[in-house]
Amino acid sequence: MTRDKKLIIGNWKMNLNMHEASLYVHQLSGLVQSRRDVEVVLAPTLLTIQSLSLQVDRRQFKLAAQNLYWRDYGAYTGEVSARQLRGIVDYALIGHSERRHIFNETDKDTRSKIQACIRNQIRPVLCIGETASERANGEATDVLHDQLIGGLANVTSDELEEVVIAYEPVWAIGTGDNALPDDVTKAVVAIRSQIKHLYGATAAKNVCILYGGSVKADSAADYLAINGIDGLLIGGASLDAHAFNDIIQKAHDSAAKAKK
Ligand code: 13P
Repeated sequence: MTRDKKLIIGNWKMNLNMHEASLYVHQLSGLVQSRRDVEVVLAPTLLTIQSLSLQVDRRQFKLAAQNLYWRDYGAYTGEVSARQLRGIVDYALIGHSERRHIFNETDKDTRSKIQACIRNQIRPVLCIGETASERANGEATDVLHDQLIGGLANVTSDELEEVVIAYEPVWAIGTGDNALPDDVTKAVVAIRSQIKHLYGATAAKNVCILYGGSVKADSAADYLAINGIDGLLIGGASLDAHAFNDIIQKAHDSAAKAKK
């Protein structure tokens, strides 16, 4: 995906049952006009992903897994692998802050999961971000640095082209506590400079970076206008098809503006 295309991902988290998910997709597909300049991705629960993969028109929406296990198969009760998701999803969220903080996922886990995505042709969306206390202690840049190094340790330059990075400050997720554009700009500069250090200037310029954390239709345009932000990862506001469509529309406006 080129950086002039905006990427909008709706992370439904543990919401919507089969019936609700199907209705939602039906409703959203009637609202969204397919645009070449915006890629729309839905990340439903694993329960609904298989049936939605049959329902969605992949030219209109792609699917993402919210999580996966890094082994391809075996005795791992309760887990689903990248190999099993191959062909069903185009993306997978890796290292979401809820995985890190509620389910104790480590950087080593994210690293293995990114490898599993790459070998199964799934684009990993590596989620990184500092907590409120790390922010208060002035550690935000160090946290981003560690999570990037930790997640990308085995990723080659060629493979990096498939990786998306999502900056989601933990204190802004689900709180309505909006990160200021200045905070996001600082994080994006830190991420690109770290990528430059690891992979060189071209990779730093090309890597796709999303922002996530309490983004709503009325704040989406401000985040999309930030230099170096290529799209959004939306939680709560993606659960309402109208609100999510408004955000997709903002992404289209932003892409059209950037072309002028
Ligand atoms: P909210 O948009 O609900 O803050 O969630 C953000 C998020 O965690 C997306 O992955």
